[in-house]
Amino acid sequence: MLKIGHRGTAALAPENTAAGFKKAIDMNLDMVELDVQLTKDEEVVVIHDYDLQRVAGVDAKIADLTLDQLKEIDVASYFAADYAEQRVMTLTEVIELVRNELMLNIELKMIAEKEQILIDKVKKILRQENFIGQVIISSFNHCYVKEFGPEFKTAVLINSHPVDVVAMIESANADGVHPNHKLLTAELIEQVQQAGCFVNTWTVNDENKITELKSWGVDGIVTDYPEIISI
Ligand code: G3P
Ligand code: CA
Repeated sequence: MLKIGHRGTAALAPENTAAGFKKAIDMNLDMVELDVQLTKDEEVVVIHDYDLQRVAGVDAKIADLTLDQLKEIDVASYFAADYAEQRVMTLTEVIELVRNELMLNIELKMIAEKEQILIDKVKKILRQENFIGQVIISSFNHCYVKEFGPEFKTAVLINSHPVDVVAMIESANADGVHPNHKLLTAELIEQVQQAGCFVNTWTVNDENKITELKSWGVDGIVTDYPEIISI
């Protein structure tokens, strides 16, 4: 079963930062989940929210700032003052940091414009960095996911239960599904796996739930608290 840190290791270090990715390496995780979107100058950056209010207290959108402007901003001391030096990372910087240590689950954030640019840039970076075999591409927008298969391993993200999960995976030409853990049953996992697809679930922060999901044979668990996944 894949042990996957959420936004790096979100409960232990500021989310989507080098500090969090390094913790995931130290903790021997298999993979980290991270979120990507585009800056104003069309650089692929790793950050969850569409604006900087929560992580930096700054009233600005990621899409309205250049990478240079974004790099000026402290996005981590919201977590603890010691992390004030952490900056938003590009996808390329993350790959360089985790290479040979961690796989990546890259969640493409749903952006209003420049969607095709985001898709093409992510593909280009992964090809240039020779990192195609180390990623799962996922998104709540299943059209984005469809653009990556079959060259890349892909998964559809879901937060509500479709009538037919396997049909939904197949219609996106995906390899698996990443459901909110609240949607999961042992039967659903079995149904997806019997169709030759995988199930990695998020974001599971309760030890008893992790034990139950493991007993159901889930393929991977995304958590903010990687220490409980290793038990
Ligand atoms: O990729 C699964 C999970 O990260 C989706 O929720 O809001 O944390 O991106 P969110
Ligand atoms: Ca995410």
